Amino acid sequence: MAWKSSHRQITFGHIFSLLFLVPLLLLQHASAEYQRPAPRELVITPHERSDSDPQQVHISLAGKDHIRVSWITNDDDIPSIVEYGTKPGLYDASATGENTSYTFLIYKSGTIHNVRIGPLHPKTTYYYRCGGQSQEFSLVTPPSTYPIEFAIVGDLGQTGWTKSTLSQLSKKDYDVFLLPGDLAYADGLQPLWDSFGRLVEPYASQRPWMVTEGNHEVESIPIIYPFSFKAYNARWQMPSEESGSSSNLYYSFDVVGTHVIMLGSYADFDADSDQYKWLEADLGKVDRTVTPWLIVLLHDPWKNFVKRKV
Ligand SMILES: *[C@@H]1O[C@H](CO)[C@@H](O)[C@H](O)[C@H]1NC(C)=O
Repeated sequence: MAWKSSHRQITFGHIFSLLFLVPLLLLQHASAEYQRPAPRELVITPHERSDSDPQQVHISLAGKDHIRVSWITNDDDIPSIVEYGTKPGLYDASATGENTSYTFLIYKSGTIHNVRIGPLHPKTTYYYRCGGQSQEFSLVTPPSTYPIEFAIVGDLGQTGWTKSTLSQLSKKDYDVFLLPGDLAYADGLQPLWDSFGRLVEPYASQRPWMVTEGNHEVESIPIIYPFSFKAYNARWQMPSEESGSSSNLYYSFDVVGTHVIMLGSYADFDADSDQYKWLEADLGKVDRTVTPWLIVLLHDPWKNFVKRKV
């Protein structure tokens, strides 16, 4: 029941934003103690490459010593291939993956490619290109020994504040980026997902970005998409399969002495739910001698979920 009533609020919120194009961000209230700075302007990042060029490139950890490379092309004939190597322009390894796409009302996404590469060496720079196209990207794999540095940012969005946050972040040589919810603030306006993907590409193509969903990822519309996550699940594939989870909305991964659990605030979490059972099993497998650090991230506490206002 609690879940249902809260879900209705989200639905109403999203319809509201769809109709009036008001980012839900503006509707949230600052607490009495904390004066939240005023919102900054929306930053739209245009598509400036050709249809066949990879865009919105981002990477994520995908099981031991593997990384998933995700990108989008507007041309659906581009193969889902990633060529890579440890020297610029010299690709001595390659991997093939899969493509997907989705529709949302009248919007049709580009072709979304997901390719898992590896095994990769720790703390090593790899140069790679996507779809056999010429533009080169580079990434650094996480280390296999301490220290490890995580960067954690929630409610990222795509405003002037996002730009300043990302530019601060780029001054740090962090290993893994953790984003517990609220990515693009698209709220049904699908081109904003594309704009967000282009905005974060310079960062998300270089270090693994591990995300979980917030309320702005739900994007439900009564009857047609009662419980959506269409864009989020298609665009931000996380290592759920690699971590024994049946849903992209919750998963876990290991990196240097750390077991990280990314929970879903907007997937069922009662004692009979898949998520709850998966979490119990996942916690049961943690070996604190191997991963003494346990980090759990979620957008909203499960307990308080019913009280939230969207
Ligand atoms: C995209 O995936 C479909 C199957 O889902 C496949 O038939 C098609 O060949 C793929 N396209 C490319 C360019 O690899």
